[in-house]
Parts: sequence; structure tokens; C-alpha cells
Amino acid sequence: MSDNSLKFAVLPGDGIGPEVMDVTLSVLARVGEKFGFQLDFTCADVGGIAIDRHGTALPESTLQLCRASDAILFGSVGGPQWESLPPKEQPERAALLPLRKAFSLFANIRPGLLYSELTDASPLKSERIPDGIDIVCIRELTGGIYFGQPKETTDLGNGEKRAVDTMVYHTSEIERIAQVAIDTARARGKRVCSVDKANVLETSVLWRSVVTEYFKREAADIELSHMYVDNAAMQLARDPNQFDVLFTENMFGDILSDEMGVICGSLGMLASASLGAQNNRLGKPFGLYEPSGGTAPDIAGQGIANPCAQILSAALMLRYSFGLNDAADAIEKAVRTAVTGGTRTADIAFGLPAVNTAAMADAVLQALESAV
Ligand code: IPM
Ligand code: MG
Repeated sequence: MSDNSLKFAVLPGDGIGPEVMDVTLSVLARVGEKFGFQLDFTCADVGGIAIDRHGTALPESTLQLCRASDAILFGSVGGPQWESLPPKEQPERAALLPLRKAFSLFANIRPGLLYSELTDASPLKSERIPDGIDIVCIRELTGGIYFGQPKETTDLGNGEKRAVDTMVYHTSEIERIAQVAIDTARARGKRVCSVDKANVLETSVLWRSVVTEYFKREAADIELSHMYVDNAAMQLARDPNQFDVLFTENMFGDILSDEMGVICGSLGMLASASLGAQNNRLGKPFGLYEPSGGTAPDIAGQGIANPCAQILSAALMLRYSFGLNDAADAIEKAVRTAVTGGTRTADIAFGLPAVNTAAMADAVLQALESAV
């Protein structure tokens, strides 16, 4: 392999994962030809398919491949076949959470982008979002109530059980994600809204004070505001573009980013990046890149899923883990050209004839040819 090869792990997973991954790799290969890099990827099982083949959603061999890579391109995991397993063993939880922990993937970046041509896709009235939506959610991903200890259920007898989750944050965890929010805002509208529940939660009181101090020290150029999470959920539905960068802790981010996803129309268009605390061999953040939508079991295997979110996730991988900003921009531009030019899968067709996965990817490839 030449020095220009990108070494990444490909984990297609379940449902539509393998289908959209397949065309994404073709798009990446073509972008590589144009921008002078080769792909050096290896595929491995994750999620339900890994449970079936290896007895666990995240086999050690998959973890090892990820450790030997500079980034992970992830499809999606889960499906009805595995829903009867205990929650802890289900593909989503048993694959994603350990991956986040293993690679300290503390920074989840979800762009909430809705093209003005696609405002019909949003459940919000078009007059509320005449220019579409362009915000980004930065979610802390390895702390808070997801991972805090103790986390357990105790049988108290008499038919009574007691379950506890622990929400915990440290100053350093808040500061490192605050830096990601700052970096993101600097490349955009320079405004960050930090979301917490400081009227009730200790962790939020700490969050708010650490964020305030950190921004004062490190980011005088960024406009910082604070909002309680209940209000943020309401404001997001009322006027999403009042936000530039929405910045929050793990569980609030889980909920708000799904809300953002739905108001941005199809989940088939939404990419995400989860950046690690460690740099890869290129001195860039190691990261996991995945579409925000799920495995879509209802349409899996038919070759009709929207591949755009997976393609856009690959663009984020080029940008963050490989520093290939121009190539990432080219992909994002090509997806936009293809979709706004009228090539649409069923989820975003709105009266236009719907194309299949392969045709959608072909339109992206074609847009790439004319753009670069
Ligand atoms: C997400 C998902 C996960 C989460 C689940 C599948 C564990 O909802 O990535 O947002 O809660 O973080
Ligand atoms: Mg979620």
C-alpha cells in the first residue's frame, strides 16, 4: 500500500447497512481517484450478524481490526431477529456502547442539515424553515448516566426491586467536549447553546459552571448561551435555526439529536461522527462514522434504501480522521447536487419517481464528475 492509502475498518452490520455501505465504498473509491488516495479497508462483523456468527455483537477480532485502523466506517446494527435478547445483549447496546468505551469516542457530532429544496421532508411547516435547516448537535458520548456507576438492579424481596443509574461528570470531561463545541462553532456561525438541567441536577450545575469558565478562558470569540433541556426540546421544534451549535451531555444529546433528526426530514440524509480522545497514526482524531438512521428492517434487502447518510458519514470520516477537507466537501456537494437535481430515493421523493440505492449512488458519482 502506498503512503496515500486510508486504513479504515468497515463494519456494515445489519439491515440496510451492507447495501448502503457497498455503494458508499464505490463513491469513496472514485473520490480517491480524483483526490489521489487509495482505500485500504477491511470488513468485519458487528451487531446482529456478529451475534449469529460469533455469539457476541462485538467480537474480539472486530475490535482488533478497529485498533489496527485509523477510523471506523460503521453501517447500522439491530433488527427484529435480536429483539427478544436481554437488553444488554441486543446489537445496538452490545456493539455501540462498548465501541464508544473502547475508543473513548467522547464527541458525537451530528449535523442537522435540511436542504431548502427538501423542506417538504420536515414535519415542521415549510414557512418556519424557508431556507431549510442548518444546525449541528455536539453530544458528550462516554460519560453521564450511560456509563456512571453504580448501575444495577437489586432484588429487595417482597416482589420489590430497586434499579439505579448514576449520572456523573468530571471537569475534564466537560472541558474536552466544550472544546469540540468551540471548534465546531468557529467553523460555522460562532454561536454555542449549552443545554443542561441546572435547575435540578448537580451534574448540570457543574456542567454550566465549567462550560461558562472554559468559554471565558478559551473562546471569547464564541457567543455562549445556556438553555434548560425541556425548553431546548420545545425551541428546537419551534424554530430550529435559532441554534447554531447545540451542545449537551450524553442523555440529553441522545434525545435532542433524535428530535433534530426528525425535524430535518429523512433519517436517510443524516450523518454522524463520533470522535475519540486518541489521535490515529496521522495525528487526527480516531473516529467512528455512522448514519443516524437505523437498520430499516422493513426495506432491508430490497436495494431501495437511501445511501446518502452513509455516503455523508464517509465524507465526515475523510474530514475528521484523514484531514481530507476538499474530498469531504466534494462528496457533500455531490450529494446535494444529486438530491436537489431530482434523483431521490422513496424517503425523500415527494411525488418524484423514486430511484433505488444504486441509482442514487450513481447520481452522486455523476455529480462528482462534474464538480471536481
Ligand atoms: C444513538 C443510539 C444509542 C444511544 C443506543 C442504540 C445505545 O440511540 O446512537 O443515539 O442511546 O446512544
Ligand atoms: Mg439515540
